[in-house]
Amino acid sequence: MSEQPRKTIIAVDGPAASGKGTFAKALAKRLDYAYLDTGAIYRAIAHEVLERGGDPTNIEDVRPVLETIKYPLPDTVLKNPDLRTPRVEDATPHIGAMQEAQAAVRSYQEDFVKNPPGKAAGAVLDGRDVGTSVFPHADVKFYVTATPEERAKRRYQQQKDDNPGLTREMVLKDITLRDARDMNRQFSPLRPADDAHILDTTEDSPAETLEKGLAAVKAKLAPPRFKNGTGKFRFGR
Ligand code: C5P
Repeated sequence: MSEQPRKTIIAVDGPAASGKGTFAKALAKRLDYAYLDTGAIYRAIAHEVLERGGDPTNIEDVRPVLETIKYPLPDTVLKNPDLRTPRVEDATPHIGAMQEAQAAVRSYQEDFVKNPPGKAAGAVLDGRDVGTSVFPHADVKFYVTATPEERAKRRYQQQKDDNPGLTREMVLKDITLRDARDMNRQFSPLRPADDAHILDTTEDSPAETLEKGLAAVKAKLAPPRFKNGTGKFRFGR
């Protein structure tokens, strides 16, 4: 049997509400690649631990849930609106800091990239440690960021209708705490990979960020693909 060509991997990391999800999804769509929101897997683990009455800071309660994390998880799990509740949001960084949870989610990502939905030629994965730890040899890496104030503003806009008591200050405090947990954790902390393209979205629209990202992908991937004449790399629409 002929060997499968290695899938192209694009890593998109960054802090909460930086726009990395919007960027990663749009990039995947333009390239016809598969997209994986790795944060949703951590959130799903936190949610299930809480549903079972467990303590998300206690590995003994988390471990049995990790055994259920096998690719592919259904959309009913990964797109469950409950994953976005404050209760789950607060619990998730504790899961993200656990080495055993990181290992389970790493396996999931490896399986996803080997066998992406729709047999896509590549995958865009967004998270905190995709380019630094999970796929240090990713073909292209991005670190998407914005000032904490801008990120709090965006998160506040998204959440205010469902949560009338919410203020922008509360959101900023929450985001700052979550960033600190993700950046200061012992294993695979959030940081830009040395070879990541930094995309600061503070002043840029999603469309501008996408154009910058596409230019970086094109600079890195297009020449060799076109040179070897496979014609399989479809850049843009
Ligand atoms: O990206 P999202 O905001 O959904 O991530 C929720 C939390 O999951 C993060 O704050 C982080 O603690 C954890 N996470 C992680 N590694 C990833 C993605 C998310 O530890 N690759």
